Amino acid sequence: MTPEFILVTPQARPQVALIQLNRPKELNALNLQLMQEVAAALQQLDQDPEVRVIVLTGNERAFAAGADIKQMAGRTAIDMLLIDQFSIWDQIRRTTKPLIAAVSGFALGGGCELCMTCDMIVASETARFGQPEIRIGTMPGAGGTQRLTRAIGKARAMEMVLTGEPMSADEAARHGLVNRVVPVGQYLEEAFRLAASIAKMSPVAARLAKESVNRAFETHLDEGLHFERKNFYMTFASEDQKEGMAAFVEKRPAEFKGR
Ligand code: HXC
Repeated sequence: MTPEFILVTPQARPQVALIQLNRPKELNALNLQLMQEVAAALQQLDQDPEVRVIVLTGNERAFAAGADIKQMAGRTAIDMLLIDQFSIWDQIRRTTKPLIAAVSGFALGGGCELCMTCDMIVASETARFGQPEIRIGTMPGAGGTQRLTRAIGKARAMEMVLTGEPMSADEAARHGLVNRVVPVGQYLEEAFRLAASIAKMSPVAARLAKESVNRAFETHLDEGLHFERKNFYMTFASEDQKEGMAAFVEKRPAEFKGR
């Protein structure tokens, strides 16, 4: 089925796919269907052997201004429980390929949470990251209190979550929330550049390395080091590791096949 609220380009650049949130009039407010479409597209691209890195973007004015308030407004707690929207978010989080958010304009509420669910963020200088849910009588629900706190520390995260005041792209870069900030005309190209540099690497090693970095957030050091070591050993079962090291010794570029 053709998605209604997103545009998917499997080969936006060689081996790099693009998903663009496409509800511009609503500032890409994340209704349930849009989130389902994003999760389904990610699942498909994750299985596509021609795709090595995925970029997720919105438009210049908004990455996404949050969950769709109009859709949520009348819901009860039990409606929310039964809708179980966070299973969709869990599915997004399970994407195994590197996922880069290219963010311009508003990244608020669920929009901020969605880009923090990605592995890296390239921001335009107009990007604004915020968790304004407190202003509408609720709070972040898709990981905002956890990921923002881990990314920028308790004091600043607490302030953003309790005041709803957004953070500029420059400050987000200073706090390590985003990888880089570029002029507004360049954020998507910059995300593609970053994606292309990763797409050249072994997809097997990239997958195992991504898993290992993510594990650092979920466990204590001893268990994290153990996990890393197992994944490190596993790369030695790949043809890519043999190719990568042979290419180094033979002083030629490596050609990784993802096997
Ligand atoms: C539904 C939204 C929306 C949202 C904007 N719109 N954000 N619709 N849900 N989250 C709609 C507006 O209603 C309006 O449509 C159109 O987009 C343009 O928005 P304006 O407000 O006219 O634009 P502007 O004056 O430039 O203000 C931009 C804004 C503001 C500052 C981003 O729209 C805003 O504050 N939006 C809500 C931000 C927010 O609270 N996000 C958190 C949501 S809760 P109409 O048709 O009315 O003109 C959340 C919880 C996540 O994300 C939980 C887990 C999933």
